[in-house]
Amino acid sequence: MAAQRTLCIVKPDAVEKRRSGAILQCIEESGFKLVALKMTHLSRGEAEGFYEVHRQRPFFGELVEFMTRSPVVIAVLERDEAVTAWRDAMGATDPAKAAAGTIRKQFGANVGENATHGSDSLDNARREIAYFFAGTEVSPTA
Ligand code: CMP
Repeated sequence: MAAQRTLCIVKPDAVEKRRSGAILQCIEESGFKLVALKMTHLSRGEAEGFYEVHRQRPFFGELVEFMTRSPVVIAVLERDEAVTAWRDAMGATDPAKAAAGTIRKQFGANVGENATHGSDSLDNARREIAYFFAGTEVSPTA
């Protein structure tokens, strides 16, 4: 099965709680390889651009406020079926509805502060990875 890459953001709530290391450990133990990794504090423009697809949603302002509140950890994850595997590992968007053992169940607080982001399709994964990482920052495909 061909390896895929997807984008992971450990959101401000989880970094503030000092859970980014625990989340990266879960990621590696779930069979993903980290192929790029950085910590950054998103600007308003970066967060608005990243979530542009949600601009008309009622929660857009709240989402941008939250994502720019404090630093995030951004990673590119690689494994077979990475997009689906990472979404499965995260669990439902709302931690209250996420299955036991998932990252959002363990580390998320509510639908806004839900610990992690993951790309929802392979096309979006490619777009999101390119949004945050230059080609030279991502390790070449093995
Ligand atoms: P994420 O995977 O980062 O993609 C969009 C984000 O919007 C989502 O995770 C949630 O954190 C956030 N979101 C979705 N629904 C709501 C909501 N009703 N209120 C606040 N934030 C939301």
